[in-house]
Amino acid sequence: MTGMATRDRPEHYSAASKWLHWIVALCVLATIPMGLVMDRLPEGDLQNRLFDLHRSTGVLVLALAVLRVAVRRFSGVPAPAKMLTTFERVASTAAHHTLLLLLFLLPLVGWASMDAYRADVSVFGLFTLPHVIPQNDAVYKILSAAHWILGWLMAFVVAAHAGGALMHGFIKRDGVLNRMLPDVFGRMLDAVVGRAR
Ligand code: HEM
Repeated sequence: MTGMATRDRPEHYSAASKWLHWIVALCVLATIPMGLVMDRLPEGDLQNRLFDLHRSTGVLVLALAVLRVAVRRFSGVPAPAKMLTTFERVASTAAHHTLLLLLFLLPLVGWASMDAYRADVSVFGLFTLPHVIPQNDAVYKILSAAHWILGWLMAFVVAAHAGGALMHGFIKRDGVLNRMLPDVFGRMLDAVVGRAR
């Protein structure tokens, strides 16, 4: 059974998977700090613009998450890298699944909280998300607390995930970071840091 699953898996992440990974990473890395900064700004135009941008990039993350799962199903996911220790394999697989889940949960809970508050979620000024739950202050408070907790969880898992990937890329130099880099960047990394023997 395990043998079959391994045989069915591709050897590499597809180019689409790799590019999508970095587009999603950029969107997430922009959305989280915006969420932290906007709450601390004085009320006014700048704060409103940042709220709108945070909600818009959040919706973009949700749309890209759908695309990411579709690409995963279509092009498959390679088996964990052979050079990982057991701890690294278990921890990285858990981190990947948590990140994938959060890519859906975090924007959805954010949208639902705005809905309970009865605020319109405009997406880059192009369209407004439909209202799906009734206005309710108590529900808004719970959902907004959940969004806050999930946001910090995302920041924590992203930091651990990126830290692990950078450690493989620059300290262990074992090719694990290259697995997710588009070929041209993989070659650049090899030229700069080389591979450990
Ligand atoms: C900021 C948000 C990020 C998110 C949401 C994210 C999410 C993910 C997910 C879900 C996977 C598993 C891919 C799959 O199985 O489909 C993955 C793999 C990977 N990510 Fe990220 N990532 C982020 C940032 C980063 C950063 C900053 C780095 C590097 C510094 C990085 C390096 C990698 C590598 C090397 C893999 C492949 C690991 C392997 O299978 O060998 N990621 N990422």
